[in-house]
Formats: sequence, C-alpha cells, structure tokens
Amino acid sequence: MRIASLQKRKLVTLIAFLMATILILSGCGGGPEEVPEEESVSEAPAEETTAEEELPTFTMEEIEAFDGQDGNPAYVVVDGLVYDVTESGMWSGGVHQGQFQAGQDLTEEIMEESPHGTGVLNRMEIVGQIAE
Ligand code: HEM
Repeated sequence: MRIASLQKRKLVTLIAFLMATILILSGCGGGPEEVPEEESVSEAPAEETTAEEELPTFTMEEIEAFDGQDGNPAYVVVDGLVYDVTESGMWSGGVHQGQFQAGQDLTEEIMEESPHGTGVLNRMEIVGQIAE
C-alpha cells in the first residue's frame, strides 16, 4: 500500500511537471511577436499611395516645353503620367523612331502604333502627373 501510494505521488508529480513544461513552451511560441510584423507590412502600401498623390502636377501647356530640344529635358505623357525619357538613347533630341516628339501626350500612339506597348515605360522615371 505504502509503496503504491508513493508511486502514485511520483506519477502525479511527473504529470504536473510535464503539463507545466508544455504550458511554458506553448507560451513562448510567439503569438504577440507576429502582430507588429503584420502592422508594419500593412503600413507600407499606405506610404506608397501618399507618395503617388504627392507627384508634381503639370498642365499640357507646361509639358510642351519639355521637348528634348535645345537642352530641354524630354518628357512624354501616357495615361496621365509624365515620364522622363531624357536619358534614353532612343529618344535623343526628344525624338523617337524619327516620328514621335517628346513634350506631348503619346498615349494613343504607344498603345496603337508601337510594337512594344506600355511595358517599356517601366524603365523610365515618372516625374509627374497631368492636372485634371
Ligand atoms: C512606330 C512606333 C514605335 C516603334 C517602331 C518603336 C520602337 C521601339 C524600339 C525598337 C524600342 C527598343 C525596344 C526595347 O529596348 O525593348 C523602343 C523603346 C521605347 N519606346 Fe518605342 N517605338 C514606337 C513608339 C513609341 C511611342 C509612341 C512611345 C511613347 C511613349 C515609345 C516609347 C518608348 C520608350 C519609353 C522606350 C524605352 C527606351 C529605353 O529603354 O531607353 N515608343 N521603341
């Protein structure tokens, strides 16, 4: 009887120890740590949106001056966004393929006449947007 009750006590102690260990380990499993990560990820798009809203605004009359001639920068407008093509070797003197002149809205031309479409614009810096 005595031996049996001693063994029972040991067993209860062992189970209690195991349960405490499991509780401590699952407590360290990092639930709270994930929360700040999610917060910081959700903040990023908000900042990007703000940056886009803060793009400088141009009128089409102002854009005409950026024709890439006489040392002027060369800007082209596509879909309301202003792209800087000054540094592109394919736009030297503000002219592309001998027929397209910078300082204009070329949305229709790039979509309907070019073999490349708008994908090439990803290489160009966006420097502004057109005032509505
Ligand atoms: C007949 C029409 C056109 C032809 C044949 C033409 C042809 C080309 C070719 C062969 C390239 C180089 C392709 C490459 O590097 O992957 C190019 C690049 C480019 N094109 Fe056109 N294009 C045309 C119209 C236009 C128009 C209307 C725009 C208006 C914005 C435009 C904007 C650009 C830009 C931004 C690049 C990239 C230049 C660079 O990477 O330095 N293209 N085009």
